[in-house]
Parts: sequence; structure tokens; C-alpha cells
Amino acid sequence: LIRVDFNVPLDSQGNITDDSRIKAALKTINYCRGKGAKVILISHLGRPKGQRKNELSLKPVAARLSQLINASVSMLDDCVGRQVKERTEQMRESEVVLLENLRFHPEEKNNDPAFAKELASLADLYVNDAFGAAHRAHASTEGVTHFLESAAGFLMKKELDYFQKALAAPRKPFVFVLGGAKVSDKIPVIENMMEKADTILIGGAMAYTFLKVKKAEVGSSRLEQGMFEVVEKILAKAGGRVDIVLPLDHLVTDNIEAAQNTKETNGVDIDSGWIGVDIGPKTEKEFEGKIKKAGTVVWNGPMGIFEVDKFAKGTGAVAKAIAESEAVSIIGGGDTAAAVKKFGLEDKMSHISTGGGASLELLEGKELPGVTALSNREKQ
Ligand code: 3PG
Repeated sequence: LIRVDFNVPLDSQGNITDDSRIKAALKTINYCRGKGAKVILISHLGRPKGQRKNELSLKPVAARLSQLINASVSMLDDCVGRQVKERTEQMRESEVVLLENLRFHPEEKNNDPAFAKELASLADLYVNDAFGAAHRAHASTEGVTHFLESAAGFLMKKELDYFQKALAAPRKPFVFVLGGAKVSDKIPVIENMMEKADTILIGGAMAYTFLKVKKAEVGSSRLEQGMFEVVEKILAKAGGRVDIVLPLDHLVTDNIEAAQNTKETNGVDIDSGWIGVDIGPKTEKEFEGKIKKAGTVVWNGPMGIFEVDKFAKGTGAVAKAIAESEAVSIIGGGDTAAAVKKFGLEDKMSHISTGGGASLELLEGKELPGVTALSNREKQ
């Protein structure tokens, strides 16, 4: 029984728009098949809130996986119940069966022991290769380990190895690049990384709250007033110990949706009525210089609204600088991984995480329940 994270993005027609997570699980799946194992795959897709939702069926994933492993993948209608039990009992050696979305059952998220036991009853061994879901204490990530001998898959191990090494014994200097929209989402990660990194480069909309606290004019840029005090404390705490670098200039627009009028600011201040949407060229240079000298770079969060081509230059420059540097480079999942892909630089990074939320929690210094469950099982 292998828990994978096949929570892939789908377009409105149900086509998979990024199959990285399926590809990332192949090593474990192929290894098990190579040993003659009967491989039962379980995953969630989206957030169906405990209800069957056809648009969140794993069927498209079964089709894509079948192409990737060059073998048939049987897609079952459910993940528990009599039919699933009967079908999995009839499996042949090296056969692959994908069970339907775990989250069609509310018991999955509730970590219901009876549901976990039923999943476990399908197999002799459990492997968790779903790093992207390891921050969830669900039946398929935590509960099931109470009923089956358990192990980490290759992807899980690779993810943990990269993050643990970077956090425990990074090659120095250690540069942490942080972006994204909201400061409030990133406070725990900033606090933890202040203890680990030598330099923190801050971009994205969250930078405007930092700049405002430092008395810069930010025009109509996104601000989190409620975070001013916290940011002030962070800046005071950083002192001379960790170098927090904020944008020196910006790309601004007068209307994000229209994305028509844009200009670069001369310096750190933004004229009234204008909105910061990306870092400017001086900031790019500054960030590139720091990244060039780094021994380790961890990047979480884009530098601007990179989904809009006109606002993507700064994020692209940072991605390129990381790709060209000699540093061990670790890219947090989610938006940051998507940005690296947009610029075609995937192959130039040491590690692109498959987990957005999970990698963020590791950077916050938290333990992941899915990982703790595996270690607890090992100790028994
Ligand atoms: C992710 O996409 O980050 C993981 O698959 C977890 O999904 P979730 O946030 O819906 O639990």
C-alpha cells in the first residue's frame, strides 16, 4: 500500500497540467514492481470535503501513470469496501491498482481509526511516499501506520534528506529567498530561518509591509497593517546577526488586472496610486550578488505576480541566478516550483520540492506528522 501525492493540477477539461508529482513517485513504484510487489496506490486529489466529486476523480492520473510506467493501471471506483477488497485480493505480481480519491470519505481527513484499519487490511506493507501530504495527520498518512509495518519511499527520503541537511548543516553562506503575498503566512518561517540563514532576501507583496515599517512610501501596494508590530520586532531581532535584504526598487502598475501601464521606480519609494508587482532592476542585481556567493540557497515564494508575464522579470532573474550559482539549491514546492518551471530551469536546481505546505512546515522547524508516524513505527 503506497501513499503517493497525486494531487496534481487539472484544467477545466480534467487534463493534468503538471505531472511532476506523478513522475516523482515513479522510482518507488517501479522499485516495488521490480521486486514483484502487488502495488496498491492511494492518494487524495483536491479538497472534495468528504463527498464524491466526479471532477476530482483520480481517473486522469491512472491514465497518465499507465503511460509513464508503460503498463496498465487499474483504477478502482473507491478506496474501501467489498469490491476494493475483492479486486486487490486478486492482484497479480507487479500489477498496479490506483484506488479512488481518499478524500471522498470524511474519515480520511478525520484520521478515523476504522477507516485507516480498512485501508491497511488491503496490504501487507505500507510505504509513505507522499511528502506533499506529510504535514497532514490523516488516515492514509498517520492512522494507517498503527496497523501495518511502514517505511518511507524514495521521494519522501530524498525530500527529507535535502531539507534536513540544509537546515542542520548547510554549506555557508546560507541564503534564504522569501517571497509571496502575505507576511502573516510567513512569520513562523522567518522566525525559524533567522536562526539558520546568514542572509534573508525578501521580495513579493510581503516586502511592502516590511518597507512601510521602515518608513518607505509604498503607494497603493498590498499592506498588512496588522503585521506592522510583528515586522518591527523581526527587524529589531535580526540586528546584525542576520542580513535581511529588502527591495531597493520596484516594478509598479496603476492597475493589476489591466496590466497596461507599468514603470520602474527610481528608488525604494512608490508614488501614490501605484502598486508594486515585482522587484526592480537594482534589487535584481543586489539579490543576484548575494545568491552568487551562497553555499546553500533555499527559495520559498515568488518575487512578484509572475503568473502575469509583464510582472515576471524579477522572479525570472532570481530563478536564473539560483540556477547559475554553485550553491546547493532547494526550491519550495507550490508557486515557487511553478515559477522555476515557467522559466525552464528545473534541471538546474539541486532539488525542487513536491510539497508546498509540507516544505514550508519543515522550514518553520515543525515536525511532519506523516514522518513522525513512520519514525514511531520504526521504534516499535
Ligand atoms: C499539496 O498540494 O500541498 C498537498 O497535496 C496537500 O494538499 P492539501 O493542502 O489539500 O492537504
